[in-house]
Amino acid sequence: MRTKRVKQAYEAIHESNLIMTSPQFIKADLPIILEVGSGKGKFITELAKFNPEYHYVAFEKDINVCYRILEKQTELMLPNLTIVQDDANALLSYFEPKTVSKIYLNFSDPWPKKRHHKRRLTFETYLKMYETILITGGELEFRSDFEPLYLDSLEYLLSSGFEVFWANTQCEEREAVSEYEEKKRKESPIYGFKAKLK
Ligand SMILES: C[S@@+](CC[C@H](N)C(=O)[O-])C[C@H]1O[C@@H](n2cnc3c(N)ncnc32)[C@H](O)[C@@H]1O
Repeated sequence: MRTKRVKQAYEAIHESNLIMTSPQFIKADLPIILEVGSGKGKFITELAKFNPEYHYVAFEKDINVCYRILEKQTELMLPNLTIVQDDANALLSYFEPKTVSKIYLNFSDPWPKKRHHKRRLTFETYLKMYETILITGGELEFRSDFEPLYLDSLEYLLSSGFEVFWANTQCEEREAVSEYEEKKRKESPIYGFKAKLK
């Protein structure tokens, strides 16, 4: 995904105490809900605002879109939201084993070319990390407008520690809607699944 450069993003992010940019284990007294690839953060900030009984973590590698999450948090000052600007490759440096209750993957980059499939956030290497940080019975919830990614992801899950308990090719809106879902819903069905760590 190509993103628009925000001139002040680097400085703002590195000067802010509202965002993590280097590894440190995230601790919370509340159950932790993580979104990997949060984009501009509409979905996760809405969830955090309306569900104070959970601690939310927005994990986003792109500094320019991450700046948009920071803008939202600067306005809302949600005590139950942590923002991390880093690559999901580093997840194990932010979360100790069995500390996350649920992971959302919303409209992850599709990487359609076969040689790029290993970059997909549902690829085996990422599923292994999710298995490590999720509690037993923890959930992975996925949504996309790109059917091949949905179908391939269901296949990746077959050789993982997850069990799919819900899958749908016409997903309805949930209590929060991401930027991409808002846009893509007008043009395409929304594919999604929920899986549980066995
Ligand atoms: C297509 S956008 C979707 C954004 C948002 N989830 C939504 O639904 O509006 C995918 C986002 O995932 C982020 N992303 C992709 N790979 C990532 C990785 N390895 N680590 C962290 N973020 C990643 C991208 O930078 C991008 O912001």
